Amino acid sequence: MSLAPQELENSASKYAAEAIKLDSEGSNGQAINAYQRAVEALVKLVQIYPDYKLNKIYMERASSYQNRIKALQVSNPLCDSDINRLGSFDQKPATSTNSILNNMQSVKKRNEPNTECSLYFEELLMTDKPKVSWNEVIGLEDAKRAMRESIVYPTMRPDLLPLGWARGILLFGPPGCGKTLIAAAAAAEIEGYFINVDAASMMSKWLGEAEKNVSKLFTMARKLHDSEGVPVLIFVDEIDSLLGNRNSEVGGEVRVKNQFLTEMDGINGKSRESKLYVIGATNKPWSLEAGFLRRFQKRIYVSLPNRESRIHLFDQYTKMLQMESSLKIEDLAKLSDGYSGSDVKDICQSAQLRVVDELFQSGKGLDSDSSTRCITESDFKDILKMRKPSVSMDMIRAYVRWSEQFKAL
Ligand SMILES: Nc1ncnc2c1ncn2[C@@H]1O[C@H](COP(=O)(O)OP(=O)(O)OP(=O)(O)O)[C@@H](O)[C@H]1O
Ligand SMILES: [Mg+2]
Repeated sequence: MSLAPQELENSASKYAAEAIKLDSEGSNGQAINAYQRAVEALVKLVQIYPDYKLNKIYMERASSYQNRIKALQVSNPLCDSDINRLGSFDQKPATSTNSILNNMQSVKKRNEPNTECSLYFEELLMTDKPKVSWNEVIGLEDAKRAMRESIVYPTMRPDLLPLGWARGILLFGPPGCGKTLIAAAAAAEIEGYFINVDAASMMSKWLGEAEKNVSKLFTMARKLHDSEGVPVLIFVDEIDSLLGNRNSEVGGEVRVKNQFLTEMDGINGKSRESKLYVIGATNKPWSLEAGFLRRFQKRIYVSLPNRESRIHLFDQYTKMLQMESSLKIEDLAKLSDGYSGSDVKDICQSAQLRVVDELFQSGKGLDSDSSTRCITESDFKDILKMRKPSVSMDMIRAYVRWSEQFKAL
């Protein structure tokens, strides 16, 4: 996920905090304006990212701000409990930018049980096991082997590993190359639980104090592990967002990071038989500091596909498409140097869309007997011309450099 939803989210939370402050000071007109802007930012967020995990909470907040606007418009006297209901921002008057930012972080009153937010937080944790097999993960042999050694073998034959095994695994590399896919394949192979958490969402100001969310996450994993005696795999996607260099908040990230490091120490120091794992994924490994890295004994580079892997990728993604018989997958692989697995998938999708579009343009789209023409090499060439690789060569060099310095297979 790009940073864009977080940027919009930050601007929504800025307006909301401002609105609540103005509201508590009795500046009704300005408060209405600020609430309105918060609502607009939240609605925009949901429209642009209809599948974003926090949309439910955004819409609820937007509607409570809307109600407050209505109440202010009919000039109701200010009521504290109304403001409290508006959401997770503290309404204490703020005296400086820093204190506004700090206020935005705190959730309701500190000693109140925060049932609303924990409910949302738990919804964010997906515990359904993915159905991905190792065969679907193309290439990345080193990464697959390292995952098998760390997770699959120990859960199946712990007796063969008297010296123990790694509990923390970091997958790093450019976007769209299979980090999430590989974690899902490992989870699918074990008999146990897979807790999938998106670190960026966990840091959301709309969900309450992030360090408490971190601690809740690990408590939940430990409970599952200890009570059922089965492996538990915590997958933290976008783990770099825990370090919070994405905005200028003060203090929050340090607490989150320390909480995370403490929890990781707990996992690494657990009994030899423990099958509690943390897999982190990031495409910004350089933003992780040494203390963080040390807790991940395995650090695995999930790289761009090489030519052979691209052959398999094109093979996989064109399997269900009608291709001209003279078209050679090897040629497509040659033409697509520098493209990621996810780029290859998108290219194949575009090729199919192109022939579907032609069918509709010809007026035969709705005729159920009609079918598309075969996809040719020149379709792919045209698409490649219009679609550059999503990762630049400079980025790749940065990953390779980082990998040479920090990888641990
Ligand atoms: N090695 C691969 N084998 C098969 N499919 C792949 C591979 N890499 C990427 N894909 C395709 O691209 C999609 C996106 O990959 P994935 O989500 O695993 O990337 P990621 O490395 O986690 O990216 P990000 O850093 O953006 O989270 C996959 O669902 C899959 O369809
Ligand atoms: Mg991913």
